[in-house]
Amino acid sequence: MHFVVLGFSSQVLLSLFSPCGRHKIAIATFEAPYAFFQNSRNMASRRKFDFEFKERVLRFAETNSGEKTARHFNIDAKRVRDWKKQREELLLADRRRARLTGGGRKKLSVELERRLAEWISSMKEEHCRVSRNMIKKKALEIYPSVSDGGKTFVASTGWLQKFLERNATTFRHPVTLTEQLSAKLVSFVDHIGKTVRSRGILEKDIIVMDETALCFDVVYPTSGENPQTTRGRKESHLTVVLAAKADGTKLRPYVAFRGADEEMAVLRQQISGAVLTTSANGFMNDTLTADWLQRVLGRFNMEPRLLVWDSYRCHISGTTRAELKRGYDITTAVIPRGCAKHIQATDVMWNQPFKRSLQDAYERWVAGVADKEYTAAGYLKLPARRLLVDWVIAAWDGLDEDLIRESFKVCGLSVKSDGSEDDLIRCFGDGQPCARGREALARLRQQSAESRRDEDNQ
Ligand SMILES: *[C@@H]1O[C@H](CO)[C@@H](O)[C@H](O)[C@H]1NC(C)=O
Ligand SMILES: *[C@@H]1O[C@H](CO)[C@@H](O)[C@H](O)[C@H]1NC(C)=O
Repeated sequence: MHFVVLGFSSQVLLSLFSPCGRHKIAIATFEAPYAFFQNSRNMASRRKFDFEFKERVLRFAETNSGEKTARHFNIDAKRVRDWKKQREELLLADRRRARLTGGGRKKLSVELERRLAEWISSMKEEHCRVSRNMIKKKALEIYPSVSDGGKTFVASTGWLQKFLERNATTFRHPVTLTEQLSAKLVSFVDHIGKTVRSRGILEKDIIVMDETALCFDVVYPTSGENPQTTRGRKESHLTVVLAAKADGTKLRPYVAFRGADEEMAVLRQQISGAVLTTSANGFMNDTLTADWLQRVLGRFNMEPRLLVWDSYRCHISGTTRAELKRGYDITTAVIPRGCAKHIQATDVMWNQPFKRSLQDAYERWVAGVADKEYTAAGYLKLPARRLLVDWVIAAWDGLDEDLIRESFKVCGLSVKSDGSEDDLIRCFGDGQPCARGREALARLRQQSAESRRDEDNQ
């Protein structure tokens, strides 16, 4: 399960943050032009002055007078002035916001960060786990005695995040954690190999599934006043379940919208490329997971199957396990916590192109004129649900089957269990933090082969 946020706002360059993050949150930031709509009451002219046009006008105005710009584009000079003024205000507001959230802030005490880094390293050497709160406390303790400190320092979460990022090379892969991770990955891949072999599962019956929560976040400004406090907010939210088989076959995408119960009946008639449903909060739950199993995966299959998914609670709950016993003839393999980004095919290979495709569709829509609706006050509405489903279907269709097949190899899900394809497994590749996992896996594979030979000889 992971998250994608697509958003637009009337503010130029507003970073969006999704409150719905469970695992990781991908944040997409778009430059959006809608503040420009504030002046225009008339729908037709509003549409005409679309993003690219305004960008061109403003670019031209950078090196030409307002009068000349107005003549050049055959528009009112006041409009050019208004746009310029708005853009300046937006940039200013943006900088203010950046300061508030810690974005462009001046650099903090170098001595503090050096001493803090030393302290963390020394704790690590003693195998003490250092929590974020401990780092904050220590920072506050050290700060009064540094020689290059400013007035106040509160050890905010924003500062801590930045500090950890600046020192990412030092903190990211403490040795013990990497070893633990590596051990988990090795035993997972070995487990897959053993399951596939012992149950005689064919490549076409190895399936990966994953949920992606998409958030669309729109911010409407209210003109004239402080943009910090008077923004209206609208957010739409859906979950897309993607699944495919190791032979490259893609299962139909499953889309759960938040609310939208009435619209769903209509949408279902219009759309056959995806399985649609509604969810009270936009997320999956046990009922919907069972629904996915029944409607997308299907109970019936000639041969035994293997379903690989992460440790999301809907995958491991009693309800889901009970559902899986109702005639699916399927074994599940749960990717251990913390390993998905290294070994889940969706995280490793599908999500990036899928997300990019959605973003492209979204940006084309924002820049274009088709399929847009506006509020009474003239603001662009969220893309229609039908449109979202179209984008999801197109993005999923567009994903190369070769890439899907490769992703199963790269994640060790469809490699030969004799070890001859283990060099394809990306997280054990040269230069990767868990590169030494490959030897460990080879040893396990060899032990299994030997014990099988012993059994055969008896
Ligand atoms: C940690 O970050 C500080 C600055 O914040 C930098 O001076 C230092 O070199 C970094 N340490 C490492 C090991 O990256
Ligand atoms: C899951 O969500 C659906 C749709 O919102 C709802 O009908 C169902 O009762 C929920 N199931 C559980 C177990 O919460």
